[in-house]
This record gives sequence, C-alpha cells and structure tokens, in this order.
Amino acid sequence: MTSSAIEASGLRKAYGDKVVLDGIDLEVAAGTIFSLLGPNGAGKTTTVNVLTTLMKADAGTVRVAGHDVVTETKAVRAAIGVTGQFAAVDDLLTGRENLQLMADLKRMPGAQGKRVVEELLERFDLTESAQKMASTYSGGMRRKLDLAMTLVGKPRIIFLDEPTTGLDPRSRRIMWDTIRQLVGEGVTIFLTTQYLEEADRLAGRIAVLDQGRLVAQGTPAELKRQIPGSHVRLRFAGDAEIAAALRVLTDATRDAEDDLVLRVPSDGGAQSVRTLLTHLDTHAVDVEEFSVHTPDLDDVFLALTGRTSEKVSN
Ligand SMILES: Nc1ncnc2c1ncn2[C@@H]1O[C@H](COP(=O)(O)OP(=O)(O)OP(=O)(O)O)[C@@H](O)[C@H]1O
Ligand SMILES: [Mg+2]
Repeated sequence: MTSSAIEASGLRKAYGDKVVLDGIDLEVAAGTIFSLLGPNGAGKTTTVNVLTTLMKADAGTVRVAGHDVVTETKAVRAAIGVTGQFAAVDDLLTGRENLQLMADLKRMPGAQGKRVVEELLERFDLTESAQKMASTYSGGMRRKLDLAMTLVGKPRIIFLDEPTTGLDPRSRRIMWDTIRQLVGEGVTIFLTTQYLEEADRLAGRIAVLDQGRLVAQGTPAELKRQIPGSHVRLRFAGDAEIAAALRVLTDATRDAEDDLVLRVPSDGGAQSVRTLLTHLDTHAVDVEEFSVHTPDLDDVFLALTGRTSEKVSN
C-alpha cells in the first residue's frame, strides 16, 4: 500500500446532461484530514459517493487504501467507514441496538461486539440514552450515534459528509475533538463541509469544490496566500515616520481607519516580511509594530469563484 489513503484522478459524473463532477483529481495522505469545501450543490456528496463505492463515476479512477473502487470494491469497503450527510440511524431501534446492528453486520463475535458497543456508547457520552429509541434523540445525539456506528470495526479511512451541519457550537466542538482524536490514532479523515472555519481549523489540506471542479487545493495557509488581499500592516510612531516610509515603500497605502498604519501588499511569507523590514531599516525608518494579515477562507472563496460561499445558487 502506498502512503496515499485516497487517490482520485479524472473523476467525471453527470446526471443526464447535467455535469456534476467535471474532472476531479485529488490525493489524501494517510493519517491526515482532507477537507472538501463547497457550497450547496457543488458536488461534495457525489464525490463522497464515488470514493466510497456507493456510486460509479462515468470516468476516472479511484484508489482507496490502495484498492481500486471498481475492481476491488470489497477490499475498499472493508477499509473504510462512511457517515453520510443524512444519518443512517434506524429510528425504531435504541442507540445500543443501532450499534449492535453494526457490530452484527461486521460479523463481530458476540462478546467482542458487546464490548465494542459499550465502549462506543461511553466514548460518545450516550450510555445514559442507550436504552432510548433513536427517534427520541436530538439532532446532535443522532450525529454522535451515527459517527459511533461508523467507528464499529475501527475503519482506517473515514468519510464524513457534513458532520457538523446543524449542530450547536458545543456539539460541533465535540465533533471536532473526536475527529482530531481519530487522526491522532492514525485514521485518515475525508471531510466535507460548507463551513470555511471548520476546514481551516481541522484540515491539513483543503480542496475547494465549485460546480463540479476543484478551483483550488492546498493547505489552509497556502490557499490564503494564493489570493490577493493579504498584506503586512506597519504601524509608525508619528507623521514624520509615515512620510519617510511612504517615500521608500512605493506600493504602500494608508490604512483607511488608522492614520499611523500603512498597508503593504505581501504574500505574508517570512522571506517577504524580512525583505520589507530590512528595506525600511536600510533607509533608517523605524517601525513600531507590524502584523501579517491573511484573508480568511470566505475571502478565498470570493476570490476563487467571484462569489461568497453563501450567495451561491444552484
Ligand atoms: N440522483 C441525482 N439525480 C440528479 N441530480 C442529482 C442527483 N444527486 C445529485 N444531483 C445534483 O448534483 C449536484 C451536486 O449534488 P451533491 O449532492 O453532490 O452536492 P453537495 O455539494 O453535496 O451539496 P449539499 O451541500 O447541498 O449537500 C446538484 O446540482 C444536485 O442537484
Ligand atoms: Mg451533500
């Protein structure tokens, strides 16, 4: 097996004449969190369905855990866990019964199955509600139960399709902690989200999906640096220093809100910042403070697609 947990190339999928995936290439290193970020209808769930053998692509190849999703479907399924966008929880069963059902489906011997079920109930703080029918669970509890069901059988690669949509801030944080914990245990996570902050916080790499195409890929910092708008803010002691700085920094502009601050376009990397400060130093211009401002992922989305993530219509 290679060190890539997931490798996809040239994925295409259309429903009738509506192209949903238009040539997707991606690679996810084992033991990392990869986030597919995109607005409603971008094609996130379709991508997950193709990567998890639930749907066949029209073209392209996918290897998951080193196995081809089309010719080695069984081996792929044995290596992965999937938490879909809509909970797979059976409402008419209790929390414990839902988990037990998963253990049975995985053909775990009785005692081992029982142990795993109890461990998972404990881990997700569901022991007290274990006897209650899932239909009585809150949205957050269902999400937790759903993820717990995915973890039965300890899959090494887990696909989570919008795991925190609709969760309150506390439940979202618990979900984030759980995801980080899993990665700490060496699990690979493929996560889709509409929340820029979530991808930024969790993922080592992010791919931005827009209308079936990946419009950008990279680490959160790389994405932020790619787009115009990042700058260094320099603060000076007084008007004389500002005037001196403006003479030597031809691309500096005054900050709209603070008279003593200049903004200098910059990729924000250490090298550029060092060059800038050295340049000022050479001309004996004193800087009081400096800070690097990189845009957040909402800005990234706006720059890459010309729209904010919320304003996308399908
Ligand atoms: N079974 C289907 N038949 C026809 N069109 C479909 C089908 N499933 C999805 N689509 C279309 O494919 C596009 C991508 O859908 P997909 O569910 O992959 O988006 P998504 O990024 O997961 O969106 P969301 O954030 O709303 O979950 C949408 O335009 C959707 O209408
Ligand atoms: Mg979806």
